[in-house]
Amino acid sequence: MKTVTLSTLKACKQAGEPFSCLTAYDATFARSASDAGIEVLLVGDSLGMVLQGHASTLPVTLDDICYHTRCVARAKGASLLMVDLPFMSNATLDTLLNDAGELMRAGAELVKVEGEAWMADGIRELTRRGVPVCAHLGLTPQTVYQLGGYKVQGRDSERAAQILEDARTLVDAGASVILLECVPASLGRAVSEALEVPVIGIGAGPDTDGQILVMHDVLGVTGGRKPRFVKDFMAESDSIQNAFSRYRDDVKARRFPAPEHCF
Ligand code: KIV
Ligand code: NA
Repeated sequence: MKTVTLSTLKACKQAGEPFSCLTAYDATFARSASDAGIEVLLVGDSLGMVLQGHASTLPVTLDDICYHTRCVARAKGASLLMVDLPFMSNATLDTLLNDAGELMRAGAELVKVEGEAWMADGIRELTRRGVPVCAHLGLTPQTVYQLGGYKVQGRDSERAAQILEDARTLVDAGASVILLECVPASLGRAVSEALEVPVIGIGAGPDTDGQILVMHDVLGVTGGRKPRFVKDFMAESDSIQNAFSRYRDDVKARRFPAPEHCF
């Protein structure tokens, strides 16, 4: 795979070719995912759940994320490295800029932040300083306690219109990528069609420009209740490398997500 940059993702969007994204937390799995041709690796704060065993992403610290970013950065190969800002990084502009700076120094190439239209100022200041931003909308796990659980967002037309408008506002502020989590497939399509920038979906239907999953879900090792949008690719593969390749190929061929994975 040629080195993936923001331009690559934009070219994929323009060509109508979906790209694949996967979380990664350490060097070995990052290398395997990169070798499989996964375009984007995300050091997600989901590490709080899948690595640390917490019930949410809130306890994850900046130091935790920086540690895993350094591990993944050493083995990311040609993949683009996206990294999550932890809970409360967006408390003030100072913390936002400081934390994003730490992530970039640790090896991030694209920083992901949760937040709605009010994040526009922060996103503007980050992009001004050379920090590309992915804005995460829809189900935002850092606000799970306010949302009252991990629930599909934008089912009613008012909230759906709000999510689309917020996405527009954040792109106008400088966001290079939008990520939509757990929204109806119709909204995933509408946002992707409305925006010039690439839109990555998780539980957002088949029509977003890219797809992302948590690595542990792709490998079928996550315990507990399985969300509708995940697929265990290990079930039909004889190795982890092949499970990653199969996931990538299924995204590229638009075989994943299938209707049973969508809202
Ligand atoms: O932390 C994470 O893994 C994420 C993805 C689920 C999008 O934010
Ligand atoms: Na996250």
